[in-house]
Amino acid sequence: MVLKESKSVAEMNYFELLAWLGIGSSHPGGFPATKQNLDAVQVTPDDYVLDAGCGSGLTACHLAKTIGCKIIGIDISPQMVEKACLRAAKEGVSHLVEFRVADVYSLPFANNCFDLVIAESITVFLDKVKVYQEFLRVLKPGGRVADLEMAILRELPAIIRKQMEECFGSSTNPLPFEEWLKALTQVGFQDVDIKNPQPLRTKGNTILNELKKDWLLVKDLTDKVKKQPGLLARLQKNAGFIKRNQGYFGFGLVYGRKPIPEKLSFKGWIWKVLFRK
Ligand SMILES: C[S@@+](CC[C@H](N)C(=O)[O-])C[C@H]1O[C@@H](n2cnc3c(N)ncnc32)[C@H](O)[C@@H]1O
Repeated sequence: MVLKESKSVAEMNYFELLAWLGIGSSHPGGFPATKQNLDAVQVTPDDYVLDAGCGSGLTACHLAKTIGCKIIGIDISPQMVEKACLRAAKEGVSHLVEFRVADVYSLPFANNCFDLVIAESITVFLDKVKVYQEFLRVLKPGGRVADLEMAILRELPAIIRKQMEECFGSSTNPLPFEEWLKALTQVGFQDVDIKNPQPLRTKGNTILNELKKDWLLVKDLTDKVKKQPGLLARLQKNAGFIKRNQGYFGFGLVYGRKPIPEKLSFKGWIWKVLFRK
C-alpha cells in the first residue's frame, strides 16, 4: 500500500498525526473507558446521538452495533471522516451512522435535535464554554451531554505544562474536575456531575496499544513505520511524557442535562410577569 502523506511526522501537529494514523480511541482510558462511560450513560435505541470530534468513528460504530441507535459523527478533519465512513461500511452500520466534516464551534444542526451529545478528548483542546454552548443549543430539552476529558489533579508546574503543549499542542488545557463542571453550569446545563472519575494510569504506549488493537489501522502500521522512521520516536515522546507525569492527571465523564423549560399555568405566568425582578 502506498501512503501519500505530504508532511513528515515531525511536521505534523497532534491532530494531523492522529488523523494520519486514523486512531480510533485517542482519549484517556482508551476504549475500555468508552465502554465504561456508555454503560453509565445508558443509551437507548430511540436516542439520536451526536459524537462531536468523532475521530475515525470507533465509538460511534460501537454504539450503532451494540445499541442500534442513530448517530451522527462530526470531525473537522476530512481524513478522519473518510476513515470513519470506511469503518461504518466495513462494520455494516452505515444505515445507522453518518459522518460529516464539521466544526464543533458551529454545528450544522438545528436547535433541540439530539437526545445525547458525546465527546471524547476534544473539548480539552478548545474553548470549553463555546463548545458547551453549541452542545446545549443542539440538545433537546432534557437531553444530555457526556464528555470524556482529561483533568488535572493538582497544579501543573510551568515546565510540565510546556512539555505537555509540546507533545499535544499549545491549546491543550485540562482543567480540575470542578472547573469542568463550572463550564457546563456556566452555559446553563443542570444535574452536572463527573462520572467515573479516575487517575490516569498508563500501561506502556497508549497510542501504539490502541493502534495494534484496531483492525482498521494495524494493517498499514508497519508501512507507516517504514515510510516515516520518526513515527515511533514521536509516539514514545508522548507516551514518555504521560508515564513520567501521570500523577498530575486524571480523567472522567463530564456530564450534564439541558433543562426542560417549566410549563407555567396562567396564574403562574401572571405571578411571574408581576413579580419578576
Ligand atoms: C484527540 S482526538 C479524539 C478523537 C476521538 N473522539 C477519540 O476519542 O478517538 C480529537 C479530535 O477532535 C477533532 N477536532 C479538533 N478540533 C475540532 C473542531 N473544532 N471541530 C470538530 N472536530 C475537531 C480532531 O480532528 C480529532 O479527530
